[in-house]
Amino acid sequence: MGKKKDILRYLEQRLHAPRYRHSLAVAECTVALAKEHRHWTDPQQERVTLKQLQWVALLHDCEKERPEKELWAMLQSDPSLDLQNLSTTPFVWHAFAGALTAQRHFGLEDPKLLDAIRYHATGRPAMSQEEMLLFLADAIEPSRSYEGVEKLRCLAHKDLEAALLYSLERINEELCRRGEPRSVYGLEALAYYQKRQKEKG
Ligand SMILES: [Fe+2]
Ligand SMILES: [Fe+2]
Repeated sequence: MGKKKDILRYLEQRLHAPRYRHSLAVAECTVALAKEHRHWTDPQQERVTLKQLQWVALLHDCEKERPEKELWAMLQSDPSLDLQNLSTTPFVWHAFAGALTAQRHFGLEDPKLLDAIRYHATGRPAMSQEEMLLFLADAIEPSRSYEGVEKLRCLAHKDLEAALLYSLERINEELCRRGEPRSVYGLEALAYYQKRQKEKG
């Protein structure tokens, strides 16, 4: 994978200042959450993991300002994607395109880290801890202000999965209220985590 300064240069060239600052804040928040929720026995592994998480979080919105036409062309270049599922929800295209950039431009290979970028806008069933960390950091970084964000921040510090479910429910309600299409991945994630919560009692 490339160096942090290459990532920052890529972001500076493509993102307006507020989104650039958001990317830095998400990276900081992802690392902070990871430290709260992970316990490494090997300090070397901890350093590598935190550095990679930071890079992945920096990149999560790297394609957010690319025109939809170009994003769609990027997605079409990946035969593994289900374009039918994606076609009705352009707001998630930047996440899938961002994962492609992380892989093709920055040489990121770890599927768990690529999936963290790919599903940061929707969630999906059975998310890895890396996916949850980025999803939640994106939702709670300090500049975020929306109804429920304080509760989400508290939950994220205590229980990643409970926070994830709360966030998925809030997003779902908001999309329904606005009459906007909901992504297949988000709906599947919501159903999956609601079922798990019921099973836990
Ligand atoms: Fe995003
Ligand atoms: Fe973001």
